[in-house]
Amino acid sequence: MIERLVVFGATGDLTARYLLPGLAALHATGRLGGRFELAGAGRQDWDTEGFRRWAADQLDRHGGEFPAASREAIVSASSYHQADVGDVASVAAVIAGEGPSAAYLALPPAVFPIAVTTLHEAGLPPGSRIVLEKPFGEDLDSAVELNRLLAEVLPEPAVFRVDHFLAMTTVQNVLGTRLANRMLEPVWNSTHIDEVDIVWDETLSLEGRAGYYDGVGALRDMLQNHLLQLLCLVAMEPPVSLGERDLRDRKVDVLRSVRPLTDADVQRRTRRARYLAGRIGDRRVPAYVDEEGVDPSHGTETFAEMELELDNRRWPGTIFRLRTGKALGRDRMEVAVHFRSAPHLPVGFGGEALPNMLRFGLDPECLTLDLTGVGARAETLVPLELTAEIDPPELPPYGRLLLDVLNGDAALSIRGDEAEESWRVVEPVLAAWSKDLVPLLEYPAGSDGPDAPAG
Ligand code: BG6
Repeated sequence: MIERLVVFGATGDLTARYLLPGLAALHATGRLGGRFELAGAGRQDWDTEGFRRWAADQLDRHGGEFPAASREAIVSASSYHQADVGDVASVAAVIAGEGPSAAYLALPPAVFPIAVTTLHEAGLPPGSRIVLEKPFGEDLDSAVELNRLLAEVLPEPAVFRVDHFLAMTTVQNVLGTRLANRMLEPVWNSTHIDEVDIVWDETLSLEGRAGYYDGVGALRDMLQNHLLQLLCLVAMEPPVSLGERDLRDRKVDVLRSVRPLTDADVQRRTRRARYLAGRIGDRRVPAYVDEEGVDPSHGTETFAEMELELDNRRWPGTIFRLRTGKALGRDRMEVAVHFRSAPHLPVGFGGEALPNMLRFGLDPECLTLDLTGVGARAETLVPLELTAEIDPPELPPYGRLLLDVLNGDAALSIRGDEAEESWRVVEPVLAAWSKDLVPLLEYPAGSDGPDAPAG
């Protein structure tokens, strides 16, 4: 296990909301070594004492559920180093040390290339790892270039392109439920499954993240990575093991089988939109373009939707609909698998036989199966719902993700070729949207999203 985590961009939102609580969770479950060190690096003129005070505050706000002793342990294991990722000497001073480090780039994606180059020149100690947040690059070309730079610094198994969705238990539950049950896999194909909706609708709006989000947008922020990863888990062939090679090979197969979209497909099968002012519960939300730090000329979308088909033996004709948006009226995070209707129903039944649907609720976590059965009146069909609550995970997603990084287990991070294949899927959409072949629709904050369906 690596015992030293160096976070570049340590004074930002990611550290505050996710990394510090993730580390506290690891401490609380006895998974951090006694010599663990957190070295925070940033451009701000802070010192260790100031960083520790800030970290303690952030842990109170975002990690209150973890024992005080664990929060204090993380605070006292931390230090601060003023460093600029463009400056070799200051970066060398942070990463210099006896042992290897895990260098976490909690930075905007545009800064990754310079940060990787600087780490290379500064000389990472042998055995070190680099962790990069999503989106990995801004398009296919920049992802290829970033992979090339990384390959000069470290071998592929030491590069962690993290996607915290993969560390969510429910996401793993998609695979567990599919593959550990005899009854599902035989019907897990296009003969029986008509459509799959992969949905991440949030009531959250921009939440002060314009510096990162404006110009990135929903397609690059969520769909190119998190939602395509969900698609992979739903559609992949059963892997031999959950080890990094088997799992990632099977995911890449799915991405490679996505039928490329033509301009006409993009016009017919994708939508983009951004929110107008509105109300979500008691919250008044300004229009996206009036949020602080937003430049309307970027034309950033806060809602993205696309329909895909897979050209492989298992899925001919099944539609996979991926959709995500911010400032919507209700949180709906799920994978909904729609089965085809029963092929024949004996004459004599009343009521309606609705098609079966299996839903993986991602947040809150649950599993629901919609069936049809006979209700109070004989021979009369009614909908039945079976629901299973899922125990809360032992570790939050960023706890699991950091544990894997420190242990060197890359199974739940994205391999270089996988990142490139994901960009290949969305490239035609990025290109057609940038030529304005698809209108940028609008929806009031608090609504269900833009009205007009794709097509
Ligand atoms: C992040 C996106 O990766 O995932 C956010 O940048 C999004 O825009 C978030 O809100 C959703 O995941 P979670 O786990 O924070 O609810």
